[in-house]
Amino acid sequence: MRLLLKGTLALALLVAGGASAQAPPPQPDYHPSLADLMTTAVQPRHTKIGLAGQARNWVYLDYEVNELKNAFARIGRTVPTFNGQALAPAIDARIGGQIERLAAAVKARDARRFDAAYADLTDACNACHKALNKDWIVIRAPSRAPTGQSYPDQVFGAGR
Ligand code: HEC
Repeated sequence: MRLLLKGTLALALLVAGGASAQAPPPQPDYHPSLADLMTTAVQPRHTKIGLAGQARNWVYLDYEVNELKNAFARIGRTVPTFNGQALAPAIDARIGGQIERLAAAVKARDARRFDAAYADLTDACNACHKALNKDWIVIRAPSRAPTGQSYPDQVFGAGR
């Protein structure tokens, strides 16, 4: 009888142990910061649009400029305020027009208009970083020649 009890206890412990291994404790929700979203959702698209623009790949540009626009819209919803400022209106005011003009240049398949609009877009990135006190985040057009740098649209040197 003692033996049977011991055996049952051992089995119960084994089952409980197995069950806890199968059901991990719940994880807290992940809330990306504005910097997380800039690095993952905005920066790669800015780079890709620059490189596809140099290749005049209008079909891809149609798609990717729209992706950038939608990414900014999602960022405004995901991070409602930054340093106490409403973010969605700041995005609209600081880069909304530049994205629209870029999209229009792509629709028109106009290379010169595209180049000017892309330069304006990049200026808008930097103007917002300055306005929100992050002037050390410096964005540029990615260079056509391979630079060996993993983030070709960002300036890392201190002496800019
Ligand atoms: C509405 C203002 C605004 C606009 C427009 C904007 N940014 Fe930002 N960005 C910020 C702020 C503010 C931060 C810093 C966030 C933080 O520190 O949490 C940031 C951070 C970043 C970072 C992270 C820096 C790093 O090295 O980790 C990158 C990269 C970046 N932005 C790229 C861009 C690019 C590219 C564009 C233009 C297509 C752009 N941003 C447009 C406000 C803006």
